[in-house]
Amino acid sequence: MNRIDFSHDTQAAAVIAASYDTPPMAYVHSYGCQQNVNDGEKIKGVLSDVGFGICDKLEEADLILFNTCAVREHAEDRVFGNVGALKQLKAANPRLIIGICGCMTQQQSVVDKLRKSYPFVDLVFGVNGIDTLPALLAEKLQKGRRLLQTPTERYDVVEEVPIRRDSTFRAWLPIMYGCDNFCSYCIVPYVRGRERSRKSADILAEFRQLVAAGYKEITLLGQNVNSYGKGLEEDIDFSGLLELLCAEEGDYHIRFMTSHPKDATPRLIDTMAAHPQICRHLHLPVQCGSDRVLAEMNRHYTVEQYLSLIDYAKQKIPGITFSSDIIVGFPGETEEEFEQTLDLIRKVEYMQLFTFIYSKRGGTRAATMPDPYTHKDKTARMARLLEVQDEIAARLARGMVGQTFRVLVEGHARQEGMLTGRLDNNLIVEFAADPACIGQYAEVLVEDARATVLKGRLAD
Ligand code: SAH
Ligand code: SF4
Ligand code: F3S
Repeated sequence: MNRIDFSHDTQAAAVIAASYDTPPMAYVHSYGCQQNVNDGEKIKGVLSDVGFGICDKLEEADLILFNTCAVREHAEDRVFGNVGALKQLKAANPRLIIGICGCMTQQQSVVDKLRKSYPFVDLVFGVNGIDTLPALLAEKLQKGRRLLQTPTERYDVVEEVPIRRDSTFRAWLPIMYGCDNFCSYCIVPYVRGRERSRKSADILAEFRQLVAAGYKEITLLGQNVNSYGKGLEEDIDFSGLLELLCAEEGDYHIRFMTSHPKDATPRLIDTMAAHPQICRHLHLPVQCGSDRVLAEMNRHYTVEQYLSLIDYAKQKIPGITFSSDIIVGFPGETEEEFEQTLDLIRKVEYMQLFTFIYSKRGGTRAATMPDPYTHKDKTARMARLLEVQDEIAARLARGMVGQTFRVLVEGHARQEGMLTGRLDNNLIVEFAADPACIGQYAEVLVEDARATVLKGRLAD
């Protein structure tokens, strides 16, 4: 394992210190999934270690870093738009350093475009380059020229990178990196590389630190947490890892994402049922409700297999809720096949859906498939799907009225004097309480549900 101690990167820290009269400030923004947000927290940790302060206003920054997402075209367009807007800041402050990193910069075409059309971008590095950032910055400061790294394939799991977490009570804990599944629509395996699991001892050590520091919600992250352990020397799977973590004393709860249905097993459900620290909620992205489309997507499960796991979970864990990702308009998805997705949604009754219109990603298999339906057809289907889902979620939320739930108090609601708390099922309830409760658990009686907006009061 690589152990990296940035406080010993005195060379880079010295160059950075010598380059500024006052401590420099960095603005770091992460797009995309929680894995990326967690990488952003590491970037902030590394920067803090070598002398940067962290700011939340672009105008105050000496260094601006966008940690990007490539999963859909819209995500990429947004990044290019926001990068373009930095041109003026750079013109006003030529010493400003602008860096782009993360999933988008793992694509050669993106690096080429940044090189050619965005000359004010100074630094480009990929998802596995966080630990090299101090040296990269020092070189930029000393030599002044642009440093645009081309996508590298680096498979080490780098441990002990410093981290500056955004929250003091909710934490992301990656258990694996990369993805080997190659779902035919998805860019992630290309930009995040092959699957690598962290050693359970390293995960446990970080988990213990989090619990000791008072973190209440710890979310285990991986593109497919159910394939955790493959390739490790130790004999452990995801259920085994959950058992190891749940043996730890403390006041915390565990979430995890994402579970790929092809590897989710009854044993996982049994493990959830056996440990009250694990939220009674399962994010199990089905993507669509047609076996033909699932096969084209390279998902390796059928609707029947998926539903039988959902049924098992409903039996074993009373009160469990589900969420899913759905892709509408995969190439060639017919009206009938889309309606099968609606049927599946009605059968499962998800609390939450994350819905996406299919976005063509260059280099993936689906990008070569005929796609006869128009964007307008797909948007119309999406609207129908959301109507079905809104009705289900509102019904589930109404069923919560009159029940008391333990929530993690997260912050202030918009309405004066009201706080927000998150339930196991990820819904937010608003209730009046002392702001001193933020970051703690509270028992809240749900009194009202409008759509999925819950109101309640502290239980007696
Ligand atoms: N590893 C996770 C998903 C990561 S990406 C899993 O397998 O469940 C998050 C979601 O983005 C996916 O579940 C999928 O619904 C969506 N997505 C990925 N690629 C997409 C594309 N090309 N177009 C539209 N949605 C996409
Ligand atoms: Fe993409 Fe599929 Fe991997 Fe998820 S499992 S990241 S959807 S390739
Ligand atoms: Fe996006 Fe990369 Fe995550 S492509 S969804 S930020 S793994």
